Amino acid sequence: TAQKLAATPPMGWNSWNWFAGKVTDADIRKAADLMVSSGMRDAGYVYVNIDDTWEGKRDANGVLHTNEKFPDMKALADYVHSKGLKIGIYSSPGPQTCARYEGSFGHEEQDAKTYAEWGIDYLKYDLCSFRDNMKQAYPNDPDAQDKMMRDAYMKMHNAIVKTGRPMVYSLCQYGFDQVWQWGPEVGANLWRTTNDISANYNSMMLIALAQAGLGRYAAPGHWNDPDMLEVGNGKMSHDENISHMTMWSMLAAPLIAGNNLTQMNDDVRSILTNRDAIAIDQDKLGKQAERVFSGDEIEIWSRPLSDGSVALAIFNLSHDRNVMRGLKLPLKQVGFANGAHARDLWAAKDLGMIKDTNAFTLPTHGAVLLRLTK
Ligand code: GLA
Repeated sequence: TAQKLAATPPMGWNSWNWFAGKVTDADIRKAADLMVSSGMRDAGYVYVNIDDTWEGKRDANGVLHTNEKFPDMKALADYVHSKGLKIGIYSSPGPQTCARYEGSFGHEEQDAKTYAEWGIDYLKYDLCSFRDNMKQAYPNDPDAQDKMMRDAYMKMHNAIVKTGRPMVYSLCQYGFDQVWQWGPEVGANLWRTTNDISANYNSMMLIALAQAGLGRYAAPGHWNDPDMLEVGNGKMSHDENISHMTMWSMLAAPLIAGNNLTQMNDDVRSILTNRDAIAIDQDKLGKQAERVFSGDEIEIWSRPLSDGSVALAIFNLSHDRNVMRGLKLPLKQVGFANGAHARDLWAAKDLGMIKDTNAFTLPTHGAVLLRLTK
């Protein structure tokens, strides 16, 4: 039997956060090379995803072609596959994508077939101009609009299935209509829960905190997607990047890096490829973290893991205060009334037996990630 698609949250890299509309064939090849040489592939990042702006025009038969930035998609896919990686692409159910390139509206089966012929392994399907179609069709009926949206996502899922080629199916519609409630029904392996992330701590943390309560909708095969990683982008500090990677790992989020791999420094590389954080993200139980404590600019989230241990993450949201005092750790709430053996994953250090009075120093905007066992 075929292995279940996205049994754990998909991991890879996507062109949008760094290259946006400038991405080319050469950039994708280079990204694939660097995912191998940097160790990212071996850490689990296998999808190389081309986002918006690869699309060209349709020919007389309606077949979509690439634009001049991507001279030969099949050859590019072959190249990416030759590196032991998989390749993803992007489209919209609307007539136009968000960057106003050609969308798949009215050509769903044809486009899915084209992707399959190229050897595509992953499709991000972004609502974009389809919103206008929905509003035009049902100006005063939001429920009918929502149904039209769900049908559009279902249509592309069916088109993909019909090709016979497995493709991870990634819904991008910014969390509208509580997509987590119906994503699995339209064949989605992941669905965006939020608006676009930007490369700064406030954007990242705002998105992270809005994930509270969504944990129960994630499971092997279908995941909440709080958007792609900005680790290594913008001016985020070491501690901010640690918080970002910690939160996404706790959330069983797809780990889709979005940084400029041609200039990745060792600090960013070691955060992105940290085996212990990735193991939390990829834990096969697939239980997304939930909040256990919030207050005084501290957040504590936990998630149970398949071996009976528990991941506990503590975040210092303060912009200017290191937290030195002993936080009262919610060990009892997460099943360790008598204390727990703790491993500090970012410090790569066993802390031995800890009690709820154990003190942690959390730098401004920093995080501690613990793995607790009996
Ligand atoms: C939307 C999506 C982004 C990106 C762009 C491309 O904004 O949310 O992730 O795909 O479109 O145009």
